[in-house]
Amino acid sequence: MRQLIAGNWKMHGRLAHVQGYAQAVRAAARHTDLLICPPFTLIDRFATALAGSGIAIGGQDCHPAPEGAHTGDVSAPMLAEAGASYVILGHSERRYSHGETNARVAGKAEAAMFAGLTPIVCVGETEAQRDAGEAEHVVRQQLMHSLPEGFAGVIAYEPVWAIGTGRTPTEADVAAMHAAIRAVLAEKLGEPGKALKILYGGSVKPDNAASLLALPEVDGALVGGASLKAEDLLAIADAAPRG
Ligand code: PGA
Repeated sequence: MRQLIAGNWKMHGRLAHVQGYAQAVRAAARHTDLLICPPFTLIDRFATALAGSGIAIGGQDCHPAPEGAHTGDVSAPMLAEAGASYVILGHSERRYSHGETNARVAGKAEAAMFAGLTPIVCVGETEAQRDAGEAEHVVRQQLMHSLPEGFAGVIAYEPVWAIGTGRTPTEADVAAMHAAIRAVLAEKLGEPGKALKILYGGSVKPDNAASLLALPEVDGALVGGASLKAEDLLAIADAAPRG
């Protein structure tokens, strides 16, 4: 399968960045799928700038309800209407700074699928959990409770301690966790769980992408900091194996 290289801009990026970035990613030859997840305010502009390019746009969160009295929230149908086809859900920055529970993430994933979006559900252990030998258990619990029935989307394994720190797990640890995630997906979702993409995220950069993306059961990357520069995101995509 073609790998998916997804850029998570987080709360970065202004209108002035869209045209140049879109032109650069459009112009590049690529052998992976590409996805850009800018802040809500730029989704519509990106959708216009990337129309017809085959490069997808995604949101970084959505509310479980389609509409309602939820000040400050954005719904899945709103994202779809703005031009998104994916949405990142349950990122650790939302689990920990917005108190998002697994059940909440499952509700959002269900809403995303209902609106025709592909949810990218993030899971990952903290450093204390890894040190205590609980990493696989924590990730298993997150998967069992954050994925709704019939989940059809993408999983991103992002160890919390590797996000934005420049640190990454060993290749053996990434491979072991991705194999464990694959087993949980098969257990929970049956045959369809064997075909879902599992991305690695956490300090993916042009210089470590080739070794991470070549690991078994790694089907792409969720890239934060390095996705803000088109050339770095493209270098990461270039480093992916040709599938
Ligand atoms: P990072 O972020 O690449 O800056 O570590 C990854 C993420 O949070 O998705």
